[in-house]
Amino acid sequence: MKVLAIETSCDDTGISILEVKKSGKNDIFKILANNTNSQVKIHREFGGVFPMMAKREHQKNLPIVLDETLKQAKIKMEKIDVIAVTYGPGLEPALWTGIVFAKELSLKYKIPIIKVNHMEGHIFSIFPKKGKTFTINSGEKIFPMLSLLVSGGHTEFILVKDWHKYKKIGQTRDDAAGEAFDKVARMLGLQYPGGPEISKMASEERKKNLIPLPLTKGEAGRGFPEIKNPSSILPLVRGGGIQIQLPRPMIHSKDYDFSFSGLKTAVLYLIRDLKEKNAKVLDNINIKQKIACEFEDAVVETLVYKTIKAIKQYKIKTLIVGGGVSANTHLQEVMKNEIKKLRKSDFLNIKTHFPIKSLTGDNALMIGIAGYYESRNKKFVKNLKSLKAQGNLSL
Ligand code: KG4
Ligand code: ZN
Repeated sequence: MKVLAIETSCDDTGISILEVKKSGKNDIFKILANNTNSQVKIHREFGGVFPMMAKREHQKNLPIVLDETLKQAKIKMEKIDVIAVTYGPGLEPALWTGIVFAKELSLKYKIPIIKVNHMEGHIFSIFPKKGKTFTINSGEKIFPMLSLLVSGGHTEFILVKDWHKYKKIGQTRDDAAGEAFDKVARMLGLQYPGGPEISKMASEERKKNLIPLPLTKGEAGRGFPEIKNPSSILPLVRGGGIQIQLPRPMIHSKDYDFSFSGLKTAVLYLIRDLKEKNAKVLDNINIKQKIACEFEDAVVETLVYKTIKAIKQYKIKTLIVGGGVSANTHLQEVMKNEIKKLRKSDFLNIKTHFPIKSLTGDNALMIGIAGYYESRNKKFVKNLKSLKAQGNLSL
């Protein structure tokens, strides 16, 4: 079966073509082509995604990306068996462009459409690894599974009891984690998207903090200064300069909800107070790195703490983290580390999966995989008129 998938929920125009063969309980996927045309440079000027601009760009890009994708896959539209298209959640004007494009192709080539929930796509994004093929074994004992989806528009926990059986057990009550990264980056004068920028700054700060380990005499011989009283140097590096502490919002709440708006406001007030003392405080790169690091710690600790709690409560076998923020290396490190500890302390055998870097953000490959399974369940759109964009669609 050949699946053509279309993704236009935000600012990435994605089209992919997958060929899937079934062999017993294994589904063997071959990626014939996968393209993502990012509009990030256009939206950067506005400091965020501007929906009507995204719509215009998708309309312009879709036919071009389709041509390119068919060429790379070396097949003609007539050979496609099913079209999978994202219908929500996302920015409605952007979603509509993909839907209208899919409908036109469906009518022209008489190919059935499968509508795909973008968040289900993010769950499937962890299966492809490096290389052109990957296998999904539907008989594997991977449930109950917990999916932490963290992007610019969403922060939610999905409990997956079985294939296609989803239950949302928690979500953000205000800003999404990625949105908080973007807003704090803006306050620090960093460019959009803010996640990777904050992350770079934070890792510079952590490098500084790694230095003060007490050195032995032998090491001192290799050129390090000999430190007689290690504790005397620690405050110089760890606590040097100003002390910054941000809240870990809702970390001890009984539910699995998040709230990142207060954290963002705490950064706003912190910068305001610092500026009162020194208007040019943000010209100091060390201060910026310190704020970025403490902010990233606050987000990561909150996400990881609640994930571990949910894993214990629901006796989770598989953890999936997806969405743009899952690219965050500190989140990956802390999460994997805490899971490792949990394996030892609670004897839980949990497998953790992050998508490969190129699939952390929005892409059509994940939509193609989710679409393939929906088509196996024969969930084709019967009446094209009924297919509409659903900006607030939920799993
Ligand atoms: O999933 P995505 O590409 O788009 C949607 O929002 O659906 O996620 C984009 C978000 C942005 O807010 C961006 O700042 C964030 O993901 N992001 C990161 C990192 N890379 C992207 N956040 C933290 N650390 C990163 N390395
Ligand atoms: Zn997304």
